[in-house]
Amino acid sequence: MSPMIELSVNGRSAAVETNGMRRLTEILREDLGLTGTKVGCEAGDCGACSVILDGRLVNACTVPAGRLDGSTVTTVEGLASGDTLDSLQRSFLHHGAAQCGICTPGMLVAATALLAEVARPTKEQVADALGGILCRCTGYRAIIDAVVAAPDFGEADAEPPPGKAVGQRVPRVDGVPKVTGIDRFGDDDPTEALAIRVVRSPHHRARFRFGDLAAFSERPGLAAVFTASDVPGRNRFGVIPAFVDQPVFAEIETRFRGEAVAMVVGETRAVTDLDLETFPIEWEELPPILTPEAALADGAAAIHDERPDNVLIRGLVRRGDLDAAFAAADEVVDTSYSTPFIEHAYIEPEAGRAQRVDDVLELTVTTQTPHMDRTEVAAIMGLDADQVVIHPTAVGGGFGSKLDLSVQPYLALAAWHLDRPVRIAYTRPESMASTTKRHPSEISVRVGATADGTLTAMRFDGRFDTGAYASWGPTVANRAPVHAGGPYRYDAYRADTTAVHTNQPPSGAFRGFGVPQSAVAQECAFDELADAIGMDRLAFRIHNALTVGQPTMTGQVFESGVGFKECLEALRPHWERALADAGAANGDEGSIRRGVGVAGLWYGCGNTGLPNPSTIKVGLTPTGRIRLHQGAVDIGQGANTVMSQICADALGVELGVIDRVGADTDITPDAGKTSASRQTFISGNATHAAATVLREHLLALADASTDARIELDHGVMTVHDRGETTTVVVADLDVDAEGLVAVATETFDPQTTALDEDGQGAPYAVYGFGAQMTELAGDMELGTVELLRITAAHDVGRAINPTLVEGQIHGGIAQGIGLALMEEYLPGRNDNLHDYLIPTFGDVPEIVSILIESNDPLGPYGA
Ligand code: FES
Ligand code: FES
Repeated sequence: MSPMIELSVNGRSAAVETNGMRRLTEILREDLGLTGTKVGCEAGDCGACSVILDGRLVNACTVPAGRLDGSTVTTVEGLASGDTLDSLQRSFLHHGAAQCGICTPGMLVAATALLAEVARPTKEQVADALGGILCRCTGYRAIIDAVVAAPDFGEADAEPPPGKAVGQRVPRVDGVPKVTGIDRFGDDDPTEALAIRVVRSPHHRARFRFGDLAAFSERPGLAAVFTASDVPGRNRFGVIPAFVDQPVFAEIETRFRGEAVAMVVGETRAVTDLDLETFPIEWEELPPILTPEAALADGAAAIHDERPDNVLIRGLVRRGDLDAAFAAADEVVDTSYSTPFIEHAYIEPEAGRAQRVDDVLELTVTTQTPHMDRTEVAAIMGLDADQVVIHPTAVGGGFGSKLDLSVQPYLALAAWHLDRPVRIAYTRPESMASTTKRHPSEISVRVGATADGTLTAMRFDGRFDTGAYASWGPTVANRAPVHAGGPYRYDAYRADTTAVHTNQPPSGAFRGFGVPQSAVAQECAFDELADAIGMDRLAFRIHNALTVGQPTMTGQVFESGVGFKECLEALRPHWERALADAGAANGDEGSIRRGVGVAGLWYGCGNTGLPNPSTIKVGLTPTGRIRLHQGAVDIGQGANTVMSQICADALGVELGVIDRVGADTDITPDAGKTSASRQTFISGNATHAAATVLREHLLALADASTDARIELDHGVMTVHDRGETTTVVVADLDVDAEGLVAVATETFDPQTTALDEDGQGAPYAVYGFGAQMTELAGDMELGTVELLRITAAHDVGRAINPTLVEGQIHGGIAQGIGLALMEEYLPGRNDNLHDYLIPTFGDVPEIVSILIESNDPLGPYGA
């Protein structure tokens, strides 16, 4: 018998029979069902599990149960009083301090501990007190502002009037569960289920042979061992139909360290305690290919037989007479840059559960793309798509990697074969070793300009390490050459890209699909060129900025929605002030020197030259509520809120009458994947179209004109039209099979064209633009860098919700800081958040966001 411990949690006493070595996180989450305390690393590195234990802030994952008898614990669930949020929680919502929300409980608990000590903390005190908690989404500044404002924070934000939600700083509509800790992420359902552990390759490349698996599976508490031979359908998965190449389980040879070969399923304790060193497998390590250079060398072994040169794909965009354009240049810069593997490092590792219900598989998982998951799982299981249901959970950060399958095949196989509920949560090292990364890049750039600073030509050659499997490699190889010149004009241009296989983890999607890597090289080359000409770096960019009416390097001409020059111009006063500040500071002797940098960016929204539809359904219920079937997964960026704002305004109703359902393959149409900055533009247009049609249906019920005003209240629709008022008792009307009185389903697919063999065409219907400026102090002896301020001007068309837009800018900047200054993933060497460092509170400086709203006519409300 395990000993009984008694403790007080959130003011209630609890008695738990437990082994003294179990951790407080397990007791809270598994025994007491308090899943608001999150687990991001189980190693004391991320702070997601922060709780107050006997008045002190601790990481619950490092506290053994043996220490807990008689203790008092406060978790995020203990912060609100009943349904009333405390001022800190309200302040978090107001400031947009919770994006995905996975770090939010830890932040709130730590802030509560601080506020108990310091009634009105300064920004510095907040950053210090919360400094041990990682957030990958927000860039921390909104969290600091929220905590500083909390002591005096008043009531919750008032709702905007009907029809006036767009453009308002509406708190996120899914925010309350995030600040109360009741949001359910991938591993937040502790009800009984068998546990899964995946057996993975310890080598970059190896052959293997199994021993006696049947005998191993007879161990106490184990239910089964599964391998490739147990996959009933296609033992391959991928994200692009022509490049489906990754095995669920390797069959003979593994191609990267961390690749799955088998899985063990059984009772939780038996599976958790299993020593996988005893798993019956013999490895024969093979010489790996770890760099693109080695992969492309003469005589290199083929990582995939069907790609004997180890090239997954090449991309190309070319335009104009390159030789002539370089000949016309007065200055030419030849340079090269490289960027490393970058890990997504979302705080929520991949997790989920599954069950079989007769001949249907139900998966409840953290994902960015439920409908693609369903297609792939069905193919793996040899089932029809309608035999698979994906219920997405809240997503604790995705940034591209949760576009690919991770836990889904293992959950599906175990649930199907064993007909028992199953669950899995990757450990941090497993998550880092087995899931996709940002492509490392090696880029050479040749760029020329005339003496007056006019760009003439660019030659770009980018080699991307796409790792062992295709994942989104083709997308990176095709998107990068479109963007590689940046949003600038050239007379001639050529960009070649190559995605090269190595025995590294698969590279996939990570915020930008290769565009950030390209921008690093192109923008740094511009600095060299501007310096060579003797021109101010910002002036050089303004002089060459793409504007409406000018062709991009794929030959696409926009007549509106190109606000890049405005972004650069918005930086000008900041630039001049910052240069003056730096000059004054640098007049002194000393090793600390101030610097100022500037860069431009652009990004095409959605798939590259491919169909890219989203479908949204909106209906009226008999209770007079609007039901928005919103399949655009909100991974923290705010799609739930943005779609609700668009829906409310298109209908002309209050935001508060809208109920969301989905994203869920059973109840929401396919709104496509949450990636490539597509949801506000594409699903937003689909939402606008569906809500507009529904409004027409509602007005028809009252025989009212298009300008009429609609009110919905407790099952009654009141329509005010030209001085007349008509009342419709919605509850008396017939309903359809889904219980809706009226419904509209609309699809939006942006107009694009495929690129031709020279990369010419209209690959995106719209681009977003931006320009950012960094002020820093560098220690010229130590090589350290302190960031002082970042000023970011972004053209987003129209900001449907400025707080959410600024949240994306801040989060992107924080990840850019990581890429530029801190992060490099080394497989097998830093598979944890202790050695793989991401920016913390102290690494992100003040950020000044400037929103340029160029009002794109193609976007919903100009977004
Ligand atoms: Fe406890 Fe990360 S889960 S510190
Ligand atoms: Fe902090 Fe997502 S909001 S990790």
